Order: sequence, then C-alpha cells, then structure tokens
Amino acid sequence: MKLTVVGGGSTYTPELIDGFARLRDTLPVAELVLVDPAAERLELVGGLARRIFARQGHPGRIVTTADLDAGVEGADAVLLQLRVGGQAARQQDETWPLECGCVGQETTGAGGLAKALRTVPVVLDIAERVRRANPNAWIIDFTNPVGIVTRALLQAGHRAVGLCNVAIGFQRKFAALLGTAPQDIHLDHVGLNHLTWETGVRLGGPEGEDVLPQLLARHGDTIAGELRLPRPLLDRLGVVPSYYLRYYYAHDAVVRELRTKPSRAAEVAEMERQLLEMYGDPALDEKPALLAQRGGAYYSEAAVDLAAALLGGAGSPYQVVNTANRGTLPFLPDDAVIEVQAAVGPKGPVPLPVPALGPLYAGLVANVTAYEDLALRAALHGGRDRVCQALLAHPLIGQYEYAEELTDRLIAHNREHLAWA
Ligand code: G6P
Ligand code: MN
Repeated sequence: MKLTVVGGGSTYTPELIDGFARLRDTLPVAELVLVDPAAERLELVGGLARRIFARQGHPGRIVTTADLDAGVEGADAVLLQLRVGGQAARQQDETWPLECGCVGQETTGAGGLAKALRTVPVVLDIAERVRRANPNAWIIDFTNPVGIVTRALLQAGHRAVGLCNVAIGFQRKFAALLGTAPQDIHLDHVGLNHLTWETGVRLGGPEGEDVLPQLLARHGDTIAGELRLPRPLLDRLGVVPSYYLRYYYAHDAVVRELRTKPSRAAEVAEMERQLLEMYGDPALDEKPALLAQRGGAYYSEAAVDLAAALLGGAGSPYQVVNTANRGTLPFLPDDAVIEVQAAVGPKGPVPLPVPALGPLYAGLVANVTAYEDLALRAALHGGRDRVCQALLAHPLIGQYEYAEELTDRLIAHNREHLAWA
C-alpha cells in the first residue's frame, strides 16, 4: 500500500509517522511519500520519520520529494495537511479581526474565511492532480477549514473525506475519566467541523448505554474547566460542546483575552523552531513530547483508522468524519458537509442516523452552513462582494459595518494569495 502526505514537511508529520509505525497491523504501509516544497524542512522531518520507522522495526520505505505529481503517482490514499502561507498567514488571521472586536482565529470567523479563500484553490489543484494520477485514490483532508475544503472537494467530484481530531480527543478524555479504553467509547457527535457537540457517550458501540448524564454529574467541573466554559452552561446544555464553541458561547471574553496575549500562531512558530531543532538531532528516533502540546495531538490515530477503513483494512467500523449530509440533518442541503459518526468502508462513509437536533443547535448549524456555502462561493469565484456576503452571513460578524471593514482587511492582508484581488 502506498500513502502520500501533501504537506509532509509539517512539524506535525512525526505524529503521523508514529501512528503508522505503532498501528502497522491496522494499516500496512509499504511506501510513504512526504511531499513538500520546503526542502530543508522536508529533509529534517524525513530523516526523523525514517529513524522512527527503523526504531519500531517498520519495513516501509519513506520517500521525500518536492514533486507533487511524482509523489501521488500510484498512491492509494493522499493525506492533505498543508497550510497556505504558513504560520505567518495564520498570524494575520488571528490578528486583524480583533481590531474590529471580532474573534481572531484560523478556522472560525473572519480569519477562517481568509484561510478558506487562500486554501480552496490550492487544494482543488492538488486534488485534480491526484485524480489524474489515480482516479481511485482516496483524499483524506486535514487541511483547515476542513468543512469548507471538504465541501469544495466533494462538489468537484473527488473521492474525499474530511478529518479532525476533536472527536478522538474527547473519546480519549472521556475514556480516561470513566476508566475504560478509548475503543469502548462511542460518541454521538454532531454538527459541522469545529462546531460540534457530543450529545451522547455510549459504551461499546452506537447501541450501547448512554453514560453522558453520569459523566457530566461526576466530571462536569473537570470537563468545563478544560473547555474553559462555565459549568452551569454545560448543565444547561446537557451535552458537551467542542472547545471551538467557546468562540461562540464566550465570544467577547475570548476577544478580550486574545487582545492581551501573544497569538497562538506566535506560540506555534516558537514550538516549531524548537521541534525542527530536535528533528535535526540524529539521536532522536521517536516523536518528542513537545509535539503533544500541539492542538492536533492523536490525529495520527484518526488518520490511520480512516485510511484503513477506506482501503479495506482493519479500521474501526464507525468513525467521526466530514462528509456530505445526504439528509442526515434534514434542515440542511444534501451537499452541505457535516461532521458526524459514519459507517466507513471501501465505498466511503455513510452517516449514521442522528436524532432530531433541538433549535438551540440546529439554528447555529444552519446559520454556519449558510456561511460556509457563501465562503466557498467566494473562494471559488472571488470578488469583494462575495467576501462581504459571507462575513454578513457569519453569526459572529453579521453587522454591516464590521463586514465591510473586515472585507477590506481580509483582502489587504491576503492579496498575494488571492488570484482575483
Ligand atoms: C485542533 C484542530 C485542528 C487545528 C489544531 C491547531 O487539533 O482540530 O484542526 O489545526 O487544533 O493546533 P495548533 O497546535 O496548530 O494550534
Ligand atoms: Mn480540526
């Protein structure tokens, strides 16, 4: 089996390699290609990747290349984990929205729109080249904003599934609190990427007993503390929101906080500097502990599981993925991309049925879906009006004055990445 990682020079890659090495019975990778235009980074990351495989006795071959077309040739699955404009562009996404009193974040609000506009055309070009090389290859997209990027891929007819590590993080967290193994926890997980709630925590599988009420009663303070949301909010909801919901439920408090501290991009840039230094050490042959401080911890396990299930291997039968709605949430269009549990096999994911969502959740999901639709139109066709329209539709922006102002800032800060600007 051949797998290709586009954005393979990412400092995150050793996380992925560690997963491939540990879980080689689930996913027997014979050849792993890391594709990246940044030659120096790729050499450091590739070197460590080979040492991790060697330490763990993995027989697979690791190839590094800057040539995308050669790298995807014959691949069974292609993982996309790129960041157009790097941490410098992210730094911008996290900064200028704050000047208008709106959250500055790389996937939510105006910053998320900027990232979508930079990213969608690049990802679609890569996907086209993957399809030319092998029309049967699966595309696994981690590239944010995952909901919008996956919708773009599916709309263009690609064999694509979007992936995020929020659900796998909750699965591990809840398993630890309940004293059980992560595989024993089945989450009722619903919403859009980075806009989800855990509405049930089941033992053993989708039909298992729902222990969410007990979990909240016993560990509500811990969970609320980690999400940095008030405990009474959790009690009121009776479900567990993902940490991205903090940007909605505590928007103004987050803005105040973000204004007083260095951006996450700056923190990550410093971590990346340290990580790359470590990767250059020929004695290092495992993923360093520092990597666990990145938001994407454990994404390798989700990736291995998904690739294995799609390629007919031993992956878990149910997985949380981003895929087309197809009636699962009846108030959304069929082609909207939702993040839910799905039965995954070689034909792709089929969402499990989801019980009717109450208006508190359905309202926000419908609103953000409309925003994502407009954001995708802006990413595909460009133009100031489309950008402004998407910002007007976003529940965290909405006001005309801010939408106009943010549109100008977005375009000014991203001109070099926007073909139409
Ligand atoms: C979580 C999200 C990812 C996001 C990451 C950011 O894992 O699910 O979509 O990319 O956090 O982590 P970072 O360490 O870059 O802030
Ligand atoms: Mn994510």
